[in-house]
Amino acid sequence: MAKDPTVAPSSGGEEKHPLADWLEGWTPQEVTRRKFMSISMWTIGGLIALAYGGLGLKFLWPPSQTNVPLEEVGTSDEFKVGDPPVLKVTQNQGSEGGAWIVRLEKEGLVAYDMHCTHLECPYTWVGNQFACPCHGSTFDIYGNVTHPPAPRPLRRRLVVEKDGKVYVGGIIS
Ligand code: FES
Repeated sequence: MAKDPTVAPSSGGEEKHPLADWLEGWTPQEVTRRKFMSISMWTIGGLIALAYGGLGLKFLWPPSQTNVPLEEVGTSDEFKVGDPPVLKVTQNQGSEGGAWIVRLEKEGLVAYDMHCTHLECPYTWVGNQFACPCHGSTFDIYGNVTHPPAPRPLRRRLVVEKDGKVYVGGIIS
């Protein structure tokens, strides 16, 4: 008769199966091969879903870049309430970095990362809105999506005014 691997031997002399403790209290009928495979597949599927879900969230809400050093991009008097946003090239995020900077009446100076939140194309200021040439997304001056497919508002970068100069850091939201 074949040994049942799920049952620990009752008397000494024989080696105990490694899963015997874990399966204690389960009868062999409860741990069928089909059930074991089903649990395994659900576990693997769950792990894959978690991994992809995490990647999706990272894409939609990238982590803030608090370690990006501030970079001087101009002087305070270049940005006045009512003026259109100005694109400033930056190097502190890599060779293709930049930020659209605008002084809003209530919020003061804000800086938007120059990449569209859909698929990262650089967008421009056209008329009275930001417009992405790749798939047609548009954003208002506050960075809100006014036309999809962009899934979320423009990302903001840290902007600091000090001694009449303006500095831009990493993405903060
Ligand atoms: S990358 Fe901007 S709309 Fe697609």
